[in-house]
Order: sequence, then structure tokens, then C-alpha cells
Amino acid sequence: MSISIIENEGAIQTDPYLELETKIQKKQARFGVIGLGYVGLPLGLTLSEAGFDVTGIDIDTNRIAAITAGRSYITDIGDQELQRAMAEKRFRATSDLSAISRLDAVSICVPTPLRKTKDPDMSYIVAAADAIAKVIRPGQLIILESTTYPGTTEEVVLPALEASGLKVGQDFFLAFSPERVDPGNPDFSTKNIPKVVGGVTPRCARLAALLYGACMENIVVVSSTRVAEMVKLLENTFRSVNIALANEIALMCSHMKINVWEVIKAASSKPFGFMPFYPGPGLGGHCIPIDPLYLEWKSKIDGFESRFIGLADKINSGMPRFVATRTMELLNEQGKAIRGSKIHILGVTYIKDISDSRESPAIEVIKLLLGLGAEVSYSDPFVSSLTVDGQVMESVQPCREVLSSSDLAIVITNHTAFNYPEIVKNAPVVFDTRNATEGLTAKNIVRL
Ligand SMILES: NC(=O)c1ccc[n+]([C@@H]2O[C@H](COP(=O)([O-])OP(=O)(O)OC[C@H]3O[C@@H](n4cnc5c(N)ncnc54)[C@H](O)[C@@H]3O)[C@@H](O)[C@H]2O)c1
Repeated sequence: MSISIIENEGAIQTDPYLELETKIQKKQARFGVIGLGYVGLPLGLTLSEAGFDVTGIDIDTNRIAAITAGRSYITDIGDQELQRAMAEKRFRATSDLSAISRLDAVSICVPTPLRKTKDPDMSYIVAAADAIAKVIRPGQLIILESTTYPGTTEEVVLPALEASGLKVGQDFFLAFSPERVDPGNPDFSTKNIPKVVGGVTPRCARLAALLYGACMENIVVVSSTRVAEMVKLLENTFRSVNIALANEIALMCSHMKINVWEVIKAASSKPFGFMPFYPGPGLGGHCIPIDPLYLEWKSKIDGFESRFIGLADKINSGMPRFVATRTMELLNEQGKAIRGSKIHILGVTYIKDISDSRESPAIEVIKLLLGLGAEVSYSDPFVSSLTVDGQVMESVQPCREVLSSSDLAIVITNHTAFNYPEIVKNAPVVFDTRNATEGLTAKNIVRL
């Protein structure tokens, strides 16, 4: 691809679009990621592996120090992969936000949490956009990856960047591309998960698709940033609502003394029109419990009151309390009060085989059990310490002594590393909220 030269009354200008297109095609574009978390670090490494020069930027100096020392804090990224990229000088990390000025393309991967009032907390996106706006120059491509409500790219990021005097689609390029990473999933990574891209203008979309197409297998271009933003929220709302249905069916089955796991397994034999979702002790992580509420909030502002989202949130966020109440009943059946009982929690991350305990239902369950006067301990091969209500707890090995001295064990996370036959052999009662003990038939197993 050659660079087109536009002659304008004697002045010679290069077209920033064509210039950037050529740089991307030749893999000479310098790529950067703002926010080196579960999303940003794998994304940066994927582009670096594809041959781009990558700079990761994060305000958390502990994370920068870990990366610089070649230590990965993300389960799906091995130390060796990180060290190789650093040694080959394809990847570097810095907390210096002025590094943005040297980049040709930047992806924003900062958190999008909720405020205490359950409204979107846009402060991280605003801070990242402001940092870019300070140093933006012609020929840069900015891609927002953080999950957020429809309209964010054009209502929040675009005005901040255009305040520089530069024009989108002409001087700089702006797109939204939702991250779909599934932590702990060995079959799908940034590379082979189809990537949805929507641009503020068609040229913005084309450049973002070209960049990501250089290292990802399948790019799905949609007509606008709002569509791309909505795609991600539909996906996560779909999960939230279906998990809520599975949870409600589980509560119903518990009431009716039916094994919900057997029901779901048999229903899954239908080759069409059914997709299994599973109940559990509650939602966790950075996405499913939070993202649908971004959509509900925005839709309300736009004058449309959604019903499914709030109902699903209510059912899902009630699950930890159900687990605590059921625990109380199970102890009662043993003639024991929960106050003073020893309860051992197995797994505190929100899904199995990862190290992320953010928003984990385990935290809420432990908080409720402590509030009821129980003595709580936990085991998790991925989380050595956990803070609940300001109290720091240390993980212990789920050995015979620990399990047999407890009154009841609760499986909150079905980590592969746990030895379930041993757990069932040693704990007086095992309350299994994940069907981790499937196939075991001991009388002391009680499933959700
Ligand atoms: N974790 C997931 O599985 C997942 C999946 C899909 C989408 N998402 C979305 O991706 C976004 C990022 O999620 P995550 O899990 O990677 O978050 P994270 O908390 O793991 O990482 C975000 C990083 O951004 C850094 N940061 C915050 N403000 C910054 C700033 N102004 N400049 C530079 N760095 C800054 C933080 O220090 C942190 O290291 C969120 O919107 C999330 O909803 C997450």
C-alpha cells in the first residue's frame, strides 16, 4: 500500500488514514494498551506476538514492577510468555502516561465498575480519555475495549479527544471493540475469539479491523460504536438472565426435592432449542453481575424501563443468602446451631481454576456466615489470602484434619485441583453448590 499525497494549494499533506493503514499492514504501527489487567495484558501480548511493538501502560506501579520482573499476575498468561516478549523487546510496561504520544494505536482496557448506588463509574474511562487527549496527534487510532453502556465512545471519549482541535475520521480514528476474554478457558483466547469492531466513521472501523485482523482470526465489523457496545451488553445480559433462570429453577427444585443437576443434564440431551446454564452460589467477576446494570441505567435515562435485568440481578444476588440459610438448615439437621460451628469453604474465586476473587459470591457467603457467628476457614489453591469485611483470612490446605474438625464444608468454587472423594470422606457434611461431587454418592453430600 502506498501513501497518497494530497496536494493542497502548494502544500503537501500526507493522509493520516493511509499513513496509519500502511504502518499497520507493515506491522510498523506502535501499539499500546492502557490498563494491564485481565483484558489489557493478554491483548498487548497477542499484538506483540503478531510482530507489533507494544507498550503497556498502567497507573498501578505494583503491576508494572511485576511485569518488568517477568512475573505474570494473570492466570492465563505464563511468566515465560511474558519474559519472552520482554527479552525480545516486543513488549514493555510503564506507568508513564506520556508514552501515549509515541504510539500509533492505543486500546483502552480500564475498569468499568459500579458506584455504591449501582450506577456506572465512568471515572476510569474519563481519566484514560483525558490522558490521551493531552498528547493526541494526527494519525492515531484509539480503541475503547472496556465494557460500557451504548453511547460511551461517542458521548464520553469522542468529545474529550476532539477538544484537542483534531477531527475524528480525518485526523485521528476512534472505535469500540468489546473484549470477550473468558479467564481460565483453555480453548479460547484473545486470538481465536471473534472480535467485534464498530467505528465512529467507516474509516475508524476499517483501521481497527485491520489492526486486530493482523493477530485475531475473525473480525466482525458492525455499523457503529453503539452497536458494538450493545453487542457486549446483550451477551452478558443473556448470561445473567439465563443463570438467574437456572438459579430460580434450582431454588424451585430444592423446594420440591428434585435434583436440579440431573434435570439440566437430561434437558441438555435435546439437540436443539436448549442451552444449559447452571445454578450456583451467586455471580462473580467483573462482568456478569455488573454489565447488565450499565445497560439498565442507560436504558432508563433514554426512557425505557427494562424488566429482565433487574429481576435477574435480584435472583442472582440472593443466592449467597440462600447458601447461608441452607447451611443453617443443614447444621440444624445435625442438631447444631450455626453460632460457634466450624464451616470450611472450598474455593473463593468466582469461577474455577482462576485466581480472580473479585465480586466472588464466596465473599458474601463468608460475610453472612461470620455475621451468624460461625467460625469460617477456607482453602483455595489460587488465593492465598482473602479480606472479608476488613478481616484477613489465610488459605489452608483442605487436609483431613481441617475437614474432619469442621462441622460442614461448602464447595463454592469447583476447582479441578480439589480431591473431591477425599473431601467427601473427611468432612461430616459437604454442601456442594456447583455439582463438583457429580458421580459421588455418599450420604453426607448435599447438592444445591
Ligand atoms: N476480566 C474479564 O474477564 C473481562 C472480560 C471482558 C471484558 N472486561 C472488561 O474489560 C475492562 C477491564 O477489565 P479487567 O478485568 O482487565 O480490569 P483490571 O482491573 O484487571 O485491569 C484494569 C487495569 O487498568 C488500570 N488502570 C485504571 N485506570 C487507569 C488509567 N487511567 N491509566 C492506566 N491504567 C489504568 C488498573 O490499574 C488495572 O491494572 C472492564 O471494562 C471489564 O468490564 C473484562
